[in-house]
Amino acid sequence: MMDFSNRILKVTDLEISYGGGIKVIWGVSFDVSEGEIVSMIGSNGAGKTSTIRALTGLATPLAGEIHFLGQPIHGRSSADIVELGMIHIPEGRQLFPQMSVQENLILGSYSKKYRIHQKENLETVMALFPRLKTRLRQKAGSMSGGEQQMVAIGRALMATPKLLIVDEMSLGLAPVLVKELFSVIEEINKKGVTILLVEQNVKSALAIAHRALVMENGRISMSGPADQMLNNEHIRKAYLGL
Ligand SMILES: Nc1ncnc2c1ncn2[C@@H]1O[C@H](COP(=O)(O)OP(=O)(O)OP(=O)(O)O)[C@@H](O)[C@H]1O
Ligand SMILES: [Mg+2]
Repeated sequence: MMDFSNRILKVTDLEISYGGGIKVIWGVSFDVSEGEIVSMIGSNGAGKTSTIRALTGLATPLAGEIHFLGQPIHGRSSADIVELGMIHIPEGRQLFPQMSVQENLILGSYSKKYRIHQKENLETVMALFPRLKTRLRQKAGSMSGGEQQMVAIGRALMATPKLLIVDEMSLGLAPVLVKELFSVIEEINKKGVTILLVEQNVKSALAIAHRALVMENGRISMSGPADQMLNNEHIRKAYLGL
């Protein structure tokens, strides 16, 4: 049995609102333990990306506390949070399309603390994605969607993550590629990186996760071991179409 007793992330009573005071996240609490893969699922507009943006310092929560590696990080800058080892692969990948694959990867290692690992991190990325090796000079914008997602994952690994947060990795990609990317995520996890996976591909997300959280209308409506969630009646009806 793996030991998941060390909390790496703890979110307490998070509230988020956008302009006009419309609240989209209502008292969200959850935690992630070191070594886990936790999948967050939920329909469009449920508030998954908003929650992630608050964790990574891209959005300021209205209320609540976020602890990462035992320290409070709410209110700290994204750059500080990256330096601590929380790395985010955003929805839509957000590569620099005019820059080469290699330049995009190197941009991931801007953290001062971890720049010394640049060479070995690049080797790790090449080993995980052999396809990128022959394309280092190609413009990122001219890669296929799946290859671009590989670059986005690779760029995140260049920052030596302790917690890797992935938002909608599989969106718009062919099933065979999705399968490949999910198994890479598992491999990254086995190397010791904790993973928080936001996914609409519920079946695959539950298949690789240890635990899952369901977000509905800005609240966590359900959470538990991923295998139990796969057999849950509500999940099967609402998210797996069974
Ligand atoms: N910048 C913003 N300004 C105003 N409202 C926003 C903003 N970003 C998100 N919202 C609203 O917040 C709610 C939650 O959106 P969010 O993007 O967090 O959902 P999501 O679960 O990630 O959805 P999806 O699965 O479609 O990515 C939605 O109602 C959305 O319209
Ligand atoms: Mg989203």
